[in-house]
Amino acid sequence: MNSSKNPSANQRGPHPKSSKALAKEQVLREELALIEGQSEGLLKALHILTREGRLNQDAKRKLKQVNHLVQLMSAPMLKLHEELGGEKALSVVDHGAGKSYLGFILYDRFQKESHAQDDLALEVYGLEMRAELVERSRQTAQEWGFKGMHFLHIDTQDAKDTALLPAQVDVVTALHACDTASDDAIEFALAKRARLVFIVPCCQAEFASALRQTKALSLSQSPLAELWRHPLHTRELGSQLTNVMRCLYLQSQGYQVSVTELVGWEHSLKNELIVAKLTSQKSRTAARRLKQLMGEFGLSALGPKRFPALDWSESTGSPESDEMEPEHGLQES
Ligand SMILES: C[S@@+](CC[C@H](N)C(=O)[O-])C[C@H]1O[C@@H](n2cnc3c(N)ncnc32)[C@H](O)[C@@H]1O
Repeated sequence: MNSSKNPSANQRGPHPKSSKALAKEQVLREELALIEGQSEGLLKALHILTREGRLNQDAKRKLKQVNHLVQLMSAPMLKLHEELGGEKALSVVDHGAGKSYLGFILYDRFQKESHAQDDLALEVYGLEMRAELVERSRQTAQEWGFKGMHFLHIDTQDAKDTALLPAQVDVVTALHACDTASDDAIEFALAKRARLVFIVPCCQAEFASALRQTKALSLSQSPLAELWRHPLHTRELGSQLTNVMRCLYLQSQGYQVSVTELVGWEHSLKNELIVAKLTSQKSRTAARRLKQLMGEFGLSALGPKRFPALDWSESTGSPESDEMEPEHGLQES
């Protein structure tokens, strides 16, 4: 980070206190996964750092998450930029942007990486339904001269149909976008055939609610229902199933998917990062597995609404004949 100057420390020269301070700064740098050249002024403008340059616990957690995500996104994005000829700005659409920490930090990082003089390396679009956050982000972008940042006051479920977003989008993100906004991001990515998708899901209540409604019947029919007998387990299983099915859905629509941890679990419970890369090799196995899982858990009624790109009139086939690849390489078409 471009840290603020401390002239008195310089005057004193090498001193045990200054080396201690340096060591402390290094610890903080590592702890926050700070990005090379990360601008302290921008972090202040985003109210992540206070005017005095301090961080509270929440801001620390958030900065760490966002920095980690930006670092995980950087290599595949730079590779994609190169694959596309290295000149065109990559378009990124962030769903449920909130205060747009992710968009700003990503933009700042890419601007510094860009070797082209007048070329913008990124065009970032933040989608947010809270008007005051959209306005605030617009002001910050203007103050910082970030011409490639755009903010739309929009519900994410309308994003794929608006003419305000480009017809072709390279990267789709959703960091803790509430409830089904992550699903909107996936649907948007499929509609735009986005090359890269980065989703860190938030709570999702829809599947848990459906599991709850059919719980009594399920418990009378299958020992599997023990998995969601207790309310806490219902919520957790609902959330787990949602993410598993999101991965299968992306695979069924031509994406290669990997799932990793964003930061240590001690920093956030909503810590699962789903990364999807477009290969255009649709996996029928993933589609079949998704439908079978929906059936097993009594969730089939939600299928057409939640995963509309699948053909729900098709039979799912017999589970016995269905062999799944051991890892996540579902490349069969
Ligand atoms: C938990 S915050 C996360 C914000 C930001 N991505 C971050 O990680 O700092 C979720 C944001 O998504 C927005 N949001 C939730 N559902 C949305 C929807 N359907 N359309 C647009 N914005 C939505 C909320 O208003 C909120 O600002």
